[in-house]
Amino acid sequence: MSAATGIGQAVHVRGLDKRFSRRGAENVVLEQLELTIEAGEFVSLIGRSGCGKSTLLELIAGLQQPSAGSIEVGGRAVSGPGPDRTIVFQQYALFPWRTALQNVMFPLEMAGSGRAERRRIARERLEVVGLAHAADRYASELSGGMQQRVGLARALACDPQILLLDEPFSGADAITREGLQQLLADLHRRFASTVVLVTHSVDEALRLSDRVVVLGGRPGRIVAEVRPSADRDDAAAQREQILALLGA
Ligand SMILES: Nc1ncnc2c1ncn2[C@@H]1O[C@H](COP(=O)(O)OP(=O)(O)O)[C@@H](O)[C@H]1O
Ligand SMILES: [Mg+2]
Repeated sequence: MSAATGIGQAVHVRGLDKRFSRRGAENVVLEQLELTIEAGEFVSLIGRSGCGKSTLLELIAGLQQPSAGSIEVGGRAVSGPGPDRTIVFQQYALFPWRTALQNVMFPLEMAGSGRAERRRIARERLEVVGLAHAADRYASELSGGMQQRVGLARALACDPQILLLDEPFSGADAITREGLQQLLADLHRRFASTVVLVTHSVDEALRLSDRVVVLGGRPGRIVAEVRPSADRDDAAAQREQILALLGA
């Protein structure tokens, strides 16, 4: 990535409430959530299905608005989506009729980059995810793992400060998943952007993150924060601790 990148931005979540009302009934999903993510930190969010992980990620992305409280990214209040944050979903959501290269070029087109510049950056990003050789293949012709790599390359196209990932590898088989995890670790090391990863895999969270944030309860709140230990016994105990909190 360009020399200008490399420093992610901090995220401050303060007094965050998120409620949905439906037919008069109110569903309080998140209540009084406080969370600080440091610039360049890799944080995993883990919790049972329905506890509000995707909602929190979409709030940070600016795709949803808080019911109360605030979210700041790089010291500025989030009021909508911005080029400083990109989100990657489990579904790759590539355009099947575009080539890998054209998919990665898409956000650069939206940003108004010139044609030569778009091609240059998109090629570079594909190289970063190990897919330079597949640049001219249509997205529909790529395997699931390759599509998710293109999705990551596309997410990185505009040099985001913050990479938001919602269970991006859930659909992958074990071997593909391992490769994608390795790629994500490399990307984080190389570009030092801030990463927030939603995952349901305790092992994935412990393996990749600086900090694992466990969400739980109803309404959702933070029930534990764990800094993965390099010590084998400690790591095993942390794994058990998180599994117990998840009720697994
Ligand atoms: N757009 C929405 N409208 C109404 N309820 C929603 C909406 N999005 C999420 N919810 C509710 O918020 C809760 C948390 O959902 P979600 O954030 O998707 O959980 P998770 O990602 O942890 O599985 C669920 O009860 C879900 O039904
Ligand atoms: Mg979810």
